[in-house]
Order: sequence, then structure tokens, then C-alpha cells
Amino acid sequence: MAAAAARSAGIEAELRRSPRSFRVLTGDRPTGPLHLGHYFGTLQNRVRLQDLGADVLVLVADYQVITDRDTSAGLGAQVLGLVADNLAAGLDPCRATVFAHSQVAALNQLMLPFLSLLSVAEVGRNPTVKEEFAASGGRVMSALMFTYPVHQAADILAVRANLVPVGKDQLPHVELTRTIARRFNERYSPAGAFFTPPDALLGAAALLLGLDGQKMSKSRGNTIPLSATEDETARLIRGARTDAQRRISYDPAGRPEVSNLVLIAALCQGRSPEAVAEEVGGGGAARLKAVVTEAVNERLRPIRARRRELAADRGYLRSVLRHGNDRAAALAGDTLHRVSDLMRMTY
Ligand code: TRP
Repeated sequence: MAAAAARSAGIEAELRRSPRSFRVLTGDRPTGPLHLGHYFGTLQNRVRLQDLGADVLVLVADYQVITDRDTSAGLGAQVLGLVADNLAAGLDPCRATVFAHSQVAALNQLMLPFLSLLSVAEVGRNPTVKEEFAASGGRVMSALMFTYPVHQAADILAVRANLVPVGKDQLPHVELTRTIARRFNERYSPAGAFFTPPDALLGAAALLLGLDGQKMSKSRGNTIPLSATEDETARLIRGARTDAQRRISYDPAGRPEVSNLVLIAALCQGRSPEAVAEEVGGGGAARLKAVVTEAVNERLRPIRARRRELAADRGYLRSVLRHGNDRAAALAGDTLHRVSDLMRMTY
């Protein structure tokens, strides 16, 4: 963890020096609309990397949705919604590539040689898979869930990304990707490395909690979706958990719910949380919620306006995705071709 954080600082410097030497892959599962936590945690960073000049690819990880659900119904709308969220936040389809992994056959095929490079025990040690399994309350785990970190490695290596912005929970996947890259090189490309083991880029963003003080997550319904209206936003924030102390302060350890609301306002206004808390002062939870609502709606107004326009033009969203799929397919096709050559599987 500490090593990854130190490494991330070095990469930030390198990004400023030579942004074009980076190909970045990030992605989300299309399980619902993106929310404020995504915006401050990842979307803003994607746009920043794009604007620095890195080659940014954004994956709509549709196969990951069926790791733990038994239907793909409604996926089409979720996928286009995810494209709209990314573009509304500032991703530019002329510079960045948005693609869905189900549409890139070569990427999925690469999972087969990659699986051969790992033992069952190694895959089973992945902490994220273990957590997912624990969270499922003993429901049966699909074999796709078991192998999803390997699929994620295929996402990264298929397009030969060398930088993967992630949260802490995804670090083991990047580590596994590095292992696969190294083993492939040792086994099939001893004369010179073919795959470059990618680096993780750990975000500096503060982690937002959900409005109930729990982990913010689409499935818990405790988020503020980017696509929510201003009235919906006001209602969601009105229902947020606070505490009985009237004077508002910023004390994340002692007062997590109140401090989280303060932090949301601060991020939206580009101010320090302490300044927000100071301003609300003795106004109590009601005043704090009014300030947060105003700050969120103000900040998201242009993004929401863009998103509404985009959502009304599904043909355009589809064309962006098709264009991205084509580029990803060209990259992954080339990778698979060269992998097959190195493995002498060309007959
Ligand atoms: N597993 C990631 C998540 O749930 C999404 C994802 C899939 C991803 N493939 C990826 C992220 C490749 C980075 C790189 O958020």
C-alpha cells in the first residue's frame, strides 16, 4: 500500500513530464447511474488525465455485471447511461476511447492463455473475490466471479495499458495483472518482454460516504446520482443522517455523517471542509443540508444539462461506443495476433 502510494507520486511527476507515454485504462461496471462519489473519486481524474494528453480508455465492464446476477436484462440502458455519465463529466470522445468488453472478442480470448499462467490457489487468494464472496452471504459464487480478476487483467493487457487508476480495493487486480505479464514474458517471450507490467495510480481523492454514513454504493441507495434532478437531490440530502450536536464541525473520526456532508459541500465549492463548517457554525443540520444541496446542485448543473442532452440522443451515444469498440478491437486484435505468434499458435 505505502509502496504503491509512493510509486503513484513518482508517476504523477512523469505524467506531467511526458503524458503521451501513458496509456490509461479505467472502467466501471454498468450496474446503475454514476454518482457524486464516482465524480470526485474517478471521473474528474479521467478527464484530468485526458486533458494532460494521456491516451485514456474507459471500459464499460458489462461482462462483470453477470459475475453476481443471473440476468442481463436492462443492460443496454445501463451501458448507454454510463457512456452519457462519462461524456457529461468531460470525457471527449475525439480524444478518449469508451468501449464495452463484450464487444471486443480478442480481449475475451486473451483470458484463456492468461488463465493457464495461474494456479487455482493463486486466483482464490484474491482479497476482492474473497470479500465479494463474504458479502454475498454464502450464495453460490459463479465461476466468472472467481476468475474476474483474470478477466480484468485481460482488459488491461489487451489494450496494453501501462497505467490503471484504481482505488485501494482494486490494487490486488493490478498486482495480478503484473504477475500475468511477467509470466507470459518468461514463458513465451524470453528474448525480450512483450507485455509491460502496468502501474496502479492511486487516487488522492477523499473517500465520500453514503448519505446514511455507510459505504457509498449504488446498491445501498445512499448516493446522489449525477443524473438526479435538483429536487431529487434536495430530497436525498434532507434524508441524510446527521447527529444531535447543533454546532457544525469537521471531525471525520468523531462525527462521520456530519463531516461527510461538510466534505461534499467543500468538494463542490472547491473550499476546505473547515471553512464550510465554520460558515454553517451554529446553524445546525438544517442549515448544513441547505448549504450542501445548493453546493451540489450548483456544481452539477452544467454536467446535468449536458447529460440530459446526451441521454436524449441515444444514436449519438451508440456511435461513440461503436467508435470506441472499433479502436479497442484493433488494439486487442493486434495484441492477440502477437500473443499467438509468440505462443507459436499460428497454423
Ligand atoms: N472492477 C472494476 C470496478 O468494479 C471495473 C473494471 C473492470 C476495471 N475492468 C477494469 C477497472 C480494468 C480498471 C481496469 O470498479
